[in-house]
Amino acid sequence: MKRLQDRITLVTGSSSGIGAAVAKCMAAEGAKVIVNYARSSKGAEAVVAEIKAEGGEAIAIQADVSQEDQVQSMFAQIFEHYGTIDVLVNNAGLQKDANLVDMTLEQWNQVIGVNLTGQFLCSREAVKEFKRRGVIPAQSCSAGNIICMSSVHEVIPWAGHCNYAASKGGVMLLMKSMAQELAPDKIRINSIAPGAIKTPINTDAWDTPAAEADLLKLIPYGRVGIPEDIGKAAVWLASDESEYVQGTTIFVDGGMTLYPGFATGG
Ligand code: BGC
Repeated sequence: MKRLQDRITLVTGSSSGIGAAVAKCMAAEGAKVIVNYARSSKGAEAVVAEIKAEGGEAIAIQADVSQEDQVQSMFAQIFEHYGTIDVLVNNAGLQKDANLVDMTLEQWNQVIGVNLTGQFLCSREAVKEFKRRGVIPAQSCSAGNIICMSSVHEVIPWAGHCNYAASKGGVMLLMKSMAQELAPDKIRINSIAPGAIKTPINTDAWDTPAAEADLLKLIPYGRVGIPEDIGKAAVWLASDESEYVQGTTIFVDGGMTLYPGFATGG
C-alpha cells in the first residue's frame, strides 16, 4: 500500500510551481488528484498528463478560489466524480507587489482574496464533507486532512509586499483556529511554510547568478529550495504517519526563519 492510496486530494493552484509538485508527489503515493487551476488549463492538463504517464490518476478542474460560486461548483464536480474528498491542499496563491503608498485597493483585494479568502472558502466546503462522512478507520485515522500553504512571511515581515505578508499572517491564525475547532472531529489541519523555492512566483530572486547569490545570504542551508522539497513535506502531513501533528506550521525553508543576519552579527 502506498502512503496515500486512493485518497481523493484537491490541490488548489496546481497547474505550476509548488502546487504542481505537490500534486505529482501526492499522485506518486497513490492519491487521486484534482488539479485545480484558475486560468492555465494548459498547465493543468500537462500536470494531469504527467501524473497519468506515471500510472497515477488525476483530473483538472477550473475555479478561481476567491469566488464562492466557483469554489462551490468545483466541490460539486469533485463529489460527482469521486463521491467525497479526503485531503485538501490550500495552495493557490499570488503576489501583487507594491510599496504601501503605491498599492492599489485592487492589488490588496486580489492577494487577500486568493491567498486568504480562498483558503477559507475551500476549507469550509471540505470540512462540511469531512463532518458528514466522519472517520473511515480502514482508510485513515482522520476524518479529513487540510494542508494550508503558508510562507515564511507568516512570521517574517516583508517590505514592499504588505498585502502578501498580511495574507500569510492571516493564513496562520485561520489554520490554527480551524485546527482547534475541528480537532474533536478528527479533522487534521496544518500549514507548510515554504521559504524561497524556485517557481514562477519569484523568478527575479534566483534566475541570475547575482540574484541567486543575494538570495543565498538569507538561506543558511546554502541552496534555494525546489518544489519537490514542499511536495515531500505535503505527502507526510497528508498521511497517517503525522497523525498527532495538529495546528502547526512546518517551515521548509533551509533555515530562512533563523535570523541569518545573526550568524555573524548581534
Ligand atoms: C514568496 C517568494 C519568496 C519567498 C521567500 C514566498 O512566500 O512567494 O516570492 O521568494 O517567500 O521570501
